[in-house]
Amino acid sequence: MRPSRFTCSVGCGGAWPLTEVIYRCSRCGGLLEVAHDLASLGQVSAREWKARFAERSARARLPEGSGIWGKREWVMPHLEDGDIVSLGEGWNPLLPLPGMAQRLGLSRLELKQCGVSPTGSFKDLGMTVLVSQVRWMRRQGVPLRAVACASTGDTSAALAAYAAAAGIPSVVFLPQGRISPAQLVQPLANGSLVLSLDTDFDGCMRLVREVTADAGLYLANSMNPLRLEGQKILAVELCQQWDWEVPDWVVIPGGNLGNASALGMGFELLLRLGLIDRRPRIAVAQAERANPLARAYRGGTWEKHAVVAGETLASAIQIGDPVSWPRAVRVLQAFNGVVDDASEAELSDAAAEADREGAFACPHTGVALAVTARLARSGVMGGGSRVVVISTAHGLKFPAFKAGYHATGGAPWANPPQLLPADAGAIKAVLDQRLAAA
Ligand SMILES: Cc1ncc(COP(=O)(O)O)c(C=O)c1O
Ligand SMILES: [Zn+2]
Repeated sequence: MRPSRFTCSVGCGGAWPLTEVIYRCSRCGGLLEVAHDLASLGQVSAREWKARFAERSARARLPEGSGIWGKREWVMPHLEDGDIVSLGEGWNPLLPLPGMAQRLGLSRLELKQCGVSPTGSFKDLGMTVLVSQVRWMRRQGVPLRAVACASTGDTSAALAAYAAAAGIPSVVFLPQGRISPAQLVQPLANGSLVLSLDTDFDGCMRLVREVTADAGLYLANSMNPLRLEGQKILAVELCQQWDWEVPDWVVIPGGNLGNASALGMGFELLLRLGLIDRRPRIAVAQAERANPLARAYRGGTWEKHAVVAGETLASAIQIGDPVSWPRAVRVLQAFNGVVDDASEAELSDAAAEADREGAFACPHTGVALAVTARLARSGVMGGGSRVVVISTAHGLKFPAFKAGYHATGGAPWANPPQLLPADAGAIKAVLDQRLAAA
């Protein structure tokens, strides 16, 4: 098997070994990707891959009990058990939302709950790969002092936890006052060097790129394609959970656009190796206040015009200058994709509506659900479609968002607590009144 390597995603022919500390093509400046020996992977039949994945899904022991490392040949084939840093990520459950599906005229609507995860977001899927690879690189003698990232809260939490588990120092660049307290405390607890900077995410991203250019710090943002190698498994796992059927639509919230890119990569790999025979349509969902891709799409162009991202409840996608733009555009073109956005009220209501069927949706998941509703109501998503919405984080990371909604009088799904004296009679009266309709 030929070793996996970095190649230029623009296709200029540049290629580098995975031990190289490089984040952009040195010839043309394009983003990088990881190229595996597909000819060798293709020698195994689709049927055999499915059997292998099914067998490993029954294992509890790490690393192969991990949703990512159970598919290790497709991720980082050269890593051995001792290199792998796993916290038991992946195998994110699918939650059916039959009520919402019926109201929207869809035949199937499910939430892929990537927030049900060690650090509470989908970032774990990619971070296990990046940190494992860094551990391997350090063993190969590559002089890396620490790993570093800019973050809207979830990347830093994942990096801090995996780096702590690996015994590798981490540094996180955070936009002051723009992440939830629950997210801020995660890297603090895991012993990261937390830099709280007086700028927004795009400013943090510029700074981390500048500092990691020479300081022996390894960049762990999704600009680094190692992250996407893990995140692409989301598509593989989803198809496996669907008995290798493909949904009609997958809806995913987009900020820096790494995750949407990874989703497309995963489906492409499944097609290439013959495990599926068609592509789903992909919808990228943005918050109205941080919507550069939705604006471009509506304007009929894929050209990037960065915006200054406005404040939104969906703080983890408050990003105005997405790094993975060209990767995501390629995916949208190949998957007959669409882009739409959601207002603050729409995202809040959609998250709360899904909660009524057992979710605890974060605001970004709310954005994806609200865009699903828009697409279903406008007919872009045909009646009877089978849809999976990617839930990217756990609502427990955003308690102020959840509490704020239920404190708001008049919001359609608000459920404020009933204040009562400590008196059984008063309780019974309320029970008679409130449970009468049930
Ligand atoms: C909860 C959550 N949802 C969605 C996203 C968007 O992912 P991406 O930046 O890869 O588009 C992020 C991270 O930016 C996130 O933390
Ligand atoms: Zn290039």
